[in-house]
Amino acid sequence: MIPTFETKRLVIRPYVKTDADKVELLAGNPKVAETTVAIPHPYPKGLAASWISKHEKKAIEIGSYTFAVVLKSTSELLGTLTFRVDIDDNKAELGYWFGVPYWGNGYCTEAARRIIEFGFNELKLNKIRASVMTKNPASMKILTKLDFEKEGVFKQDIMKSGNYEDMVYYGLLRQNYQYNR
Ligand SMILES: CC(C)(COP(=O)(O)OP(=O)(O)OC[C@H]1O[C@@H](n2cnc3c(N)ncnc32)[C@H](O)[C@@H]1OP(=O)(O)O)[C@@H](O)C(=O)NCCC(=O)NCCS
Repeated sequence: MIPTFETKRLVIRPYVKTDADKVELLAGNPKVAETTVAIPHPYPKGLAASWISKHEKKAIEIGSYTFAVVLKSTSELLGTLTFRVDIDDNKAELGYWFGVPYWGNGYCTEAARRIIEFGFNELKLNKIRASVMTKNPASMKILTKLDFEKEGVFKQDIMKSGNYEDMVYYGLLRQNYQYNR
């Protein structure tokens, strides 16, 4: 149900049980938790295995895809992409996190570009959106590089670790999607 994709340097594939230890290591870094809505800190032992066990069901039942991103040359797990499809409005929400040792190599941009292609070319979506904390310039840079437009700022939109966070909402419309066509 969850497809696999390849890019120049990466394989984007479903998670498997044996990825759980590495997920706990990477997602357990406070720098990863700090700017994500869903990752808790400290990251509880056993959470990764239970998270992975739900992926297939979530893909089938609600169109919420979670992908492991691994390096093609070594099969090393680098991070995660999420893609939650909303069939009613023909759109999807993109999310991602990568392990700190792998930041700054263009991996997230490369992987996200392929999932966006999947969304527009294979799923025929009309829109892909993403939301980012205002304190996360790296993520905003990625979305800008991928041609997303900033649609607005929602103040104190989520609560993370007891603090309200302002969120920037980005969107990429099918009519503005340029690459890989
Ligand atoms: C956001 C995140 C996924 C980026 O991963 P990555 O693999 O390093 O991303 P890329 O290398 O593809 O691109 C990052 C870009 O941001 C830029 N960048 C990094 N830090 C930056 C900063 N403080 N200010 C501005 N730009 C910054 C990089 O230079 C790069 O742009 P470039 O390729 O044009 O030089 C990673 O930092 C992460 O997992 N953070 C924690 C979780 C998270 O915030 N997820 C996103 C929630 S919306």
